[in-house]
Amino acid sequence: MDRFFVTTPIFYVNAKPHLGHAFTTILADSVSRFHALMGEETYFLTGTDEHGDKIAKAAEAAGQSPKEYADQISGMFRSLAPMLGAKPNQFIRTTDADHIKTVQKVLQKVYEAGDIYFGEYGGHYCFGCERFYTEKELVDGLCPDHKTKPEYISEKNYFFRMSKYQGWLHDYISEHPDFIRPARYRNEVLSLLESGALEDLCISRPKSRLTWGIELPFDTNFVCYVWFDALLNYVSALNYPRGERFKKFWPVANHVVAKDILKPHAVFWPTMLKAAGLQPYQSLNVHGYWLVRDTKMSKSLGNVVSPRNMVDTYGVSAFRYFLLREMAFGSDASFTEEALVTRLNADLANDLGNLFNRALSMTHKYFDGKVPAPGKEFQEDAELKHLGLDAMQGFQTNFGEFRTARALESLWELVRALNKYIDQTAPWTLYKNKQLDRLGTVLYVVLEHMRKLAVHLWPVMPEASEKMLEQLGMPFDLSKVALAKEPEVWGVLESGVTVAETSNLFPRVDVPEPAPVSQAPGKAAAAKPKAEKKTASAAPAAPAGPAENVEFADFQKLDLRVGTVLEAKKHPDADKLLVVQVSLGEDKPRQIVAGLADRFSPEELVGKQVVVVANLTPRKLRGFVSQGMILVAKDAEVTRLLTAGGTLDDGGKVA
Ligand code: MSP
Repeated sequence: MDRFFVTTPIFYVNAKPHLGHAFTTILADSVSRFHALMGEETYFLTGTDEHGDKIAKAAEAAGQSPKEYADQISGMFRSLAPMLGAKPNQFIRTTDADHIKTVQKVLQKVYEAGDIYFGEYGGHYCFGCERFYTEKELVDGLCPDHKTKPEYISEKNYFFRMSKYQGWLHDYISEHPDFIRPARYRNEVLSLLESGALEDLCISRPKSRLTWGIELPFDTNFVCYVWFDALLNYVSALNYPRGERFKKFWPVANHVVAKDILKPHAVFWPTMLKAAGLQPYQSLNVHGYWLVRDTKMSKSLGNVVSPRNMVDTYGVSAFRYFLLREMAFGSDASFTEEALVTRLNADLANDLGNLFNRALSMTHKYFDGKVPAPGKEFQEDAELKHLGLDAMQGFQTNFGEFRTARALESLWELVRALNKYIDQTAPWTLYKNKQLDRLGTVLYVVLEHMRKLAVHLWPVMPEASEKMLEQLGMPFDLSKVALAKEPEVWGVLESGVTVAETSNLFPRVDVPEPAPVSQAPGKAAAAKPKAEKKTASAAPAAPAGPAENVEFADFQKLDLRVGTVLEAKKHPDADKLLVVQVSLGEDKPRQIVAGLADRFSPEELVGKQVVVVANLTPRKLRGFVSQGMILVAKDAEVTRLLTAGGTLDDGGKVA
């Protein structure tokens, strides 16, 4: 049986968990679940890093002993994973007795092998980073990360002969293209090694300066440098050296970290492993940083995003989906609640939620809630299946490489195609024309694809995926899923099984009001939500010149519908806006905020049939949610409502 071991960094216990910690945990969890679905035996490790200056200082400031302080914050990290729907197999703490023993064993081994020596060192020490900086690394004399002046410290210490392994590491990385991913970080490490700057690593702190650490086994006047201690958690958790778990999982170790700790993981760690006679990990997967409105998150800016608040407000599935969909692997991403809500409404409520709601309710309306038996396959069915196969394979390839955003983008090709397939096959017309055989096939094709989608979504949104499968009458059972085969298998959903009447997993959410500018000082422009910067949902301005070409596939994404204006009112606070209720033949009329008040009176609009962009992402305009756009045609003087040229049923499609 194939195996997969995934880790998050162990987090420092000097501050509460925030969005960044949550993301790495969710990413590692989703990848672990993905491998479990692929039939592998998985092990997922997370935990806390509790020794060192940083923690000792934070504890002192809080008036607590380091251990008391660490216990408290470590507890918060322990409850982070379940709150995020993540299920690590183990939560390690560097204050665990077993970990301490392992660190001492490795130190002794490397010392005896001659790769640790005693020497004198003077350097610029940043307490925030817990490391020495060379002159070259400082920026204007300041720590490049904390922008503070490091302290010059000269003292006798123990050193790890890291420089000795420079050539070996360079060769190893060059020969193993997937060792550090994505390539930009691999290249960064290679050029660092090529610059020949690798120095030996100071791995001790004199007890006269710091006592909160693991004592060196060969000199009790010193404690171990926190990084040498922390990195070893990845093997001590597996009961290195003799543990069964170590034998099973170390060869398939995959670390997930953000770019901030690339060097310790890409340079210190493999050379430490080499010196200790251990094989390198399988891969290091480096993601970018979450910024908040393009600004670094920080307590002093007051812009730290609390994962708990997000989960409480939007639900765990939507939060996980957003993070995994929004961040391109390796790049930074910007977090805003507006962006989250926009995605939630577009991808989950509109695309996926709508698909489930429509298909389930049609199954009830036309087949008494039972999955129909499929009949003869038509070309349009075969085409859809083909597209689905590509979409699912794209999902799997990308997810296996930690490219969750691309994976989801690929899967959504299928979600959208299914909605389109329903529009094109028009089950309501098949029913009206009594073509029940064809109707059964169409619905079966849709429902079986929905099952496949739900299974693929388990790593991303376990909770929602399990609910979707329940709604399809096929409760989730990990032992029965073979994800690798899913793109090609057909007919798993059994005919005759009763499905839920509605889904309602992803209700629409209002776009939140923009956060006060004070939450991101110095970034007033960036603090303005992107949605607000775009033109209001109204008549677009006439283009100054010929518009740019768009691909046909892009044009097809627009859902243009005919609808009747039921009601129109002036916006109470905005002269140019009308708040219009339009019937698109759906359960409820749509509210559209249109910038038409200077061209039409409310009375002129009521009763008119108009053409509406129906799948525009909803947004709030001056306090009113707008769920679409009314189209007009205009020249320099006259503005006319775009119509279908004659009356159609509301909801009629413009194609
Ligand atoms: N204790 C060390 C890691 C030792 S691992 C052997 C450490 N801890 S940390 O608490 O600072 O966590 C850093 C990690 O938290 C990042 O690598 C990343 O996984 C996560 N994030 C913290 N802030 C982040 C963002 N703003 N964005 C994305 N993830 C970030 O370093």
